[in-house]
Amino acid sequence: MVRRLFLMMTVWCAVITGWAQKPNIHILATGGTIAGTGASSTQTNYTAGQVAIGTLLDAVPEISEIAQVTGEQVVRIGSQDMTDEVWLILAKRIQELAEQDEVDGIVITHGTDTMEETAYFLTLTVKTGKPVVLVGAMRPSTALSADGPLNLYDAVVVASAPESKGKGVVVAMNGLILDAHSVVKMNTTNVQTFQSPNSGALGTVYNGKVHYDQVSLKKHTTFSVFDVTTLDTLPKVGIVYSYSNIEADMVEPMLNNGYRGIVHAGVGNGNIHTHIFPVLEQARAKGIQVVRASRVPTGPVTLDAEVDDDRYGFIASQELNPQKARILLMLALTRTNDYRRIQQYFNEY
Ligand code: SIN
Repeated sequence: MVRRLFLMMTVWCAVITGWAQKPNIHILATGGTIAGTGASSTQTNYTAGQVAIGTLLDAVPEISEIAQVTGEQVVRIGSQDMTDEVWLILAKRIQELAEQDEVDGIVITHGTDTMEETAYFLTLTVKTGKPVVLVGAMRPSTALSADGPLNLYDAVVVASAPESKGKGVVVAMNGLILDAHSVVKMNTTNVQTFQSPNSGALGTVYNGKVHYDQVSLKKHTTFSVFDVTTLDTLPKVGIVYSYSNIEADMVEPMLNNGYRGIVHAGVGNGNIHTHIFPVLEQARAKGIQVVRASRVPTGPVTLDAEVDDDRYGFIASQELNPQKARILLMLALTRTNDYRRIQQYFNEY
């Protein structure tokens, strides 16, 4: 009888305090504007990555009502300085955390400049069905109407939601939930900068609730073949941005500096100027892979359109923009140097 009473009281306490239901969310902080500080609340000049994760969390006490949050600082940088090395550290740390039973979800605070790239790298390399959510801010923490606090709260909501499981790595920004494959930073300054122009957002987060409208059809996380757990470096891949009158000397240095792949950010449907076409053919002859992407913000680069890809051994980037095509090519090169297999990856991921 006494034991039963004790059990009932314990359950009741748990219900009152809410700890029994609260998910455990671990935050990995990397810097960015969300941790930025400026001299004035109304001016745009500021320094990214100044505020530590503890201070960010203290600014949003409401988070402790919805989750048990722990955090660690991985790096403190503006994301314009992101490197392969930091990506590998992040991927390995997320994998370790995701394998712990007590961790229910992971949030990564990140600068917005390269957030879409980090999200895509992680969705291809981390093997978990647990929610992994990237979040940042367009205004520094000292600005009037800073967007970081609500974005951080929303990210914890998304990472805590059972509906977020199996969605791959997502970005939660300004009320939208966007999948890593399609998310793009579309505006240099506006808070509604992240969108998925080709496929639309996966869902929304509003008033502490998530709502999903669709799932990504691309392979990610537990379905991805890419494994970086034993890697310390990634194959060197660069991007060439095309324009009218581009000259061969913009591309030639890439033939002799250790590049294993070149992503060509072409015009239109990934078209290539006659001034540099022969250089890209030379690259192929040297075993360097060439991906045709486009500087046009929406629409796919389709295989064998104006360019006969099979004739030249080129790869079409499909819906991936040049910066994400670079990531997939780097990872593909960790498994194969066969352009047909790499094209298959571009069709599936
Ligand atoms: C950065 O990407 O770290 C700077 C810009 C931002 O976070 O919005």
